[in-house]
Amino acid sequence: MNNFINISDLSKVELRSIIDSAKKRKSERGGKPHSQPDENQPLNGKTMIMIFEKTSTRTRISFDLAVKQLGGSSIILNQDEIHYGKGDETIKDTAKVLSQYADILMIRTDSHNNVDEFKKHLEIPIINGLTNQGHPCQVMSDILTFEELKGNIKDKTIAWIGDGNNVSNSFIEAAVKFQFKLNIGCPKKYQPDSKIVKLAKKNNCQLLITEDPYKAAEGADCIMTDKWISMSDKGDKNKKKKILKKYQVNKKIMKVAKLDSIFMHCLPASREEEVTSEVMDGKQSVVWLQAFNRIHAQKSIIEWCMK
Ligand code: CP
Ligand code: NVA
Repeated sequence: MNNFINISDLSKVELRSIIDSAKKRKSERGGKPHSQPDENQPLNGKTMIMIFEKTSTRTRISFDLAVKQLGGSSIILNQDEIHYGKGDETIKDTAKVLSQYADILMIRTDSHNNVDEFKKHLEIPIINGLTNQGHPCQVMSDILTFEELKGNIKDKTIAWIGDGNNVSNSFIEAAVKFQFKLNIGCPKKYQPDSKIVKLAKKNNCQLLITEDPYKAAEGADCIMTDKWISMSDKGDKNKKKKILKKYQVNKKIMKVAKLDSIFMHCLPASREEEVTSEVMDGKQSVVWLQAFNRIHAQKSIIEWCMK
């Protein structure tokens, strides 16, 4: 049994095997209808419980479909429907109880510590479906999408433009493991988690953090961004948006990247803030494939956790 909490917890070999098995499963499945199980069903008779402390469209639906395609079933719980969410049962007791009912747990929470606390008391694997600190499932899925379109990500250049948030933190961890170049263009005030940056540098990450979005985007194979205001952001939102204004991904920024570069966004997007509709709906954008590939990457993550 394995837990999938941080990209940095897994070895290079394990991470590569998850991506490669996602590619294989996706191609073997062909164009079957979304809810039709695969030929081989490693989750047959098994249940995944999902807890959402925060809103979700993609994670909720793509995990549900992933479980169905693997032959299992899922139960989706919102924070306000369960005792732990209301605060009248400890994480320890909830974890012990869920271990009696399910074979794997996925959780989206505001506090990374909640995931660690669940892990401590669960008898089943846990998957991080986004915390204030990271979004590892998104990043694995984005690597799958990148490689489908552009080949092996090793030594390619990914430019992250905008807020140094949870998704960017997971990208830094991934850059160490998959050995790609990561340029982060962000204001000083909104840099990624300093502990994650420090550890990545110690592990020879090809990481550039600059306040100049054009320098970050120059010659990149892929330009990425995310909402300027994340679900867990508590500060002055208007002030943050003002500071991030010059980091908008628009035609001008896309022009300094490689001619055949792609644009990625994990979604949801605030159009005309972090990205213009012109770029998001443009030829270089692969955002809908990114959403689709969440299903395929997560199937492999689940399979790896159940080993
Ligand atoms: N990208 C992503 O995780 O989307 P949701 O918040 O809709 O799940
Ligand atoms: N950074 C965003 C990602 C949403 C999928 C957030 O945490 O709200």
